[in-house]
Amino acid sequence: MIIAPSMLVADFARLGEDAKALEDAGSDWLHWDVMDGHFVPNLTHGALPMAACREYSSLVFNAHLMISEPLRYLEGFIEGGADIIAAHIEAEDDAREFLEAVRDAGRRPGIAISPDTPAEALAELLPLLDLVTVMGVHPGFAGQEFIEDTVGKVAEVRRMIVESNRDVHIQVDGGVDTENITRLCAAGADVIVSGSFVLQHPEGYATAIRQLRAPE
Ligand code: DX5
Ligand code: ZN
Repeated sequence: MIIAPSMLVADFARLGEDAKALEDAGSDWLHWDVMDGHFVPNLTHGALPMAACREYSSLVFNAHLMISEPLRYLEGFIEGGADIIAAHIEAEDDAREFLEAVRDAGRRPGIAISPDTPAEALAELLPLLDLVTVMGVHPGFAGQEFIEDTVGKVAEVRRMIVESNRDVHIQVDGGVDTENITRLCAAGADVIVSGSFVLQHPEGYATAIRQLRAPE
């Protein structure tokens, strides 16, 4: 199972050090939550903080673009060293065009779907994807309550991927903790994003990641 802590909950006064600490604690990817204050009711950052951390970490950088115009800003994430770049299927830009642009740049493309979007919306895009991000919360903020219907949606996406005979990651993003991670992996998720559970864990990042990998 791939663990991808969300940098949204990191210490923005020491982002590079936090990225290194998360790597040393056993993270596989770093998840960068990009929000434009338009597609979601929150404004975080563009590519700059991620680009600034690139030299501090050899982990996979997974950019999650919660923005209306992912095509307009894509170049900054490519230049900034993002390895996997996902945009929302609900964004204004054409998803197919976005996915092709990411692939043409030699990076790995993904699509995120919000809780109100059915899994079927992905069907035609599956041949273009390396990653599907199934949101466990409504995008915009860390620390929200997990939406239980997410488990069924993950199983539905996994069924679609198996049927398409393609090798696509299923990432769950939002509200993941030791209480729901087992159900999510059993349903077919293989990448887990965690903001609050890992970065606000009282016993530190390494313990939090160990607990996610082997919940009691
Ligand atoms: C929400 C973000 C998630 C969130 C994860 O819009 O995409 O990555 O920050 O944080 P937790 O794990 O606290 O829900
Ligand atoms: Zn995210």
